Amino acid sequence: MKKDLSPKDMRDAEAASQAVDPDAVGPEAVGPEAVGDIPATVRTEAHAMPVNAHAPSLHDLYNVHSGKVSDKWSSYLDAYDRVFVDYRKKPVRLLEIGVQNGGSLEIWPRYFPNSELILGCDIDTACSGLVFDDQKIALVIGDANTDEVERKIVAKSATFDIIIDDGSHTSSDIVRSFARYFPHLSDGGVFIAEDLHCSYWQEFEGGLYDPLSSMSFFKRLLDVVNHEHWGLPRFRADALATFSDRYKTVFGEASLASIHSVEFLNSLCIVTKRPSPENVLGTRNVQGRIALAEREMISLAGTTSKAFDQAANPWSLVSTTMEEEIGTNRALVTSRAARIEELTREVAVIREQLRSGRAQIARMEADLVERAEEISAAHATASVLQTEIARAQAVTTELQARIEQSERVVQEFKDSTSWRITSPLRALSAIVTRLLRRIAAVFR
Ligand SMILES: C[S@@+](CC[C@H](N)C(=O)[O-])C[C@H]1O[C@@H](n2cnc3c(N)ncnc32)[C@H](O)[C@@H]1O
Repeated sequence: MKKDLSPKDMRDAEAASQAVDPDAVGPEAVGPEAVGDIPATVRTEAHAMPVNAHAPSLHDLYNVHSGKVSDKWSSYLDAYDRVFVDYRKKPVRLLEIGVQNGGSLEIWPRYFPNSELILGCDIDTACSGLVFDDQKIALVIGDANTDEVERKIVAKSATFDIIIDDGSHTSSDIVRSFARYFPHLSDGGVFIAEDLHCSYWQEFEGGLYDPLSSMSFFKRLLDVVNHEHWGLPRFRADALATFSDRYKTVFGEASLASIHSVEFLNSLCIVTKRPSPENVLGTRNVQGRIALAEREMISLAGTTSKAFDQAANPWSLVSTTMEEEIGTNRALVTSRAARIEELTREVAVIREQLRSGRAQIARMEADLVERAEEISAAHATASVLQTEIARAQAVTTELQARIEQSERVVQEFKDSTSWRITSPLRALSAIVTRLLRRIAAVFR
């Protein structure tokens, strides 16, 4: 990541570099009289030399540096002066992931004059061209997050007192580097991740509320430090499970138990390591003999903290981590939102069907009313017809009775003697009638 120097930094650096070039000349030229309080001990070759009270600050060293380029934000230099104060005289072993032009590797031995090893690692093969006069500066070329490179680094030193991650600044690399190299930090050592502002950018696998950004990871380490208060039968590594899954890495319980502190500054996270017994809350230190407000306090002296059981606490780590929950909920919300949209479209279609169905029902109801009226009229007609039929039937019955009676009378008459006697007369009369018709036809 390119860092721009402020105009003040540039002016200071220029003025300082004009005053002295510690690389160009021997120790005699780098006396306190030459550059403020920079002592003669500040030389790349210096080894096991005392660091006096006037030891140069990292700012001083950067300001006078004129060798290989290094790129560090000024606030880091102030923070390092405070954080590294106890290491200045020590035979420090320092690992820096991300070397680039190699300037910081040149400066560290001047800052830690008694240092034993300043090891840089860079994935950029161009860095293999970097040459250092100082024998304690070494380089490993390759991806720091591979087993092969880790082996090469550990072959130089099994442990380091200071590890600085100034590599790719992507969340995956930062989390993996911490998992891989924190176990190689010595007790009392410091692990520093630089340029964490990148964790707020998607371009570096982050975002302000990205639950799996490098910043979220380091924040989560605060929970790891407070593991004893969780009130849950869970491992420290459980709090990092989602990071392990996402970044395909493993966190050892012993290593996590050795995290003593996690400190945040602008863009920096500083994690210190100590033996696990030094990382607990400890015993209650209750002193004094007069306890007017709360007598109980006296009996608590020497006791340790006991966490409340949080197994039923929905906000505690029960079966899932917050990151998992956020991820699952977000996926759920997205899929539910898609389903709601789908259902809204379906509802609109159903509403339209309902509207046309209602119109159809209204038409059918009107039709039904019309039909009912017709049926009722038909019923009335049928009733009239039925009455008429009944009347006609009665008339028919009566007529039939009369016919039958007439037939009986006729039959009785035919059967009578007078009818039989007058039969020739009726035949004669028929003949006469036919004759008369013919005669009439002749005269017509
Ligand atoms: C910001 S620069 C380092 C600056 C340097 N520390 C300094 O103070 O001047 C980042 C460097 O990290 C290197 N880098 C990126 N990913 C890496 C990885 N996975 N392993 C090792 N180095 C890596 C890049 O090649 C680049 O040179």
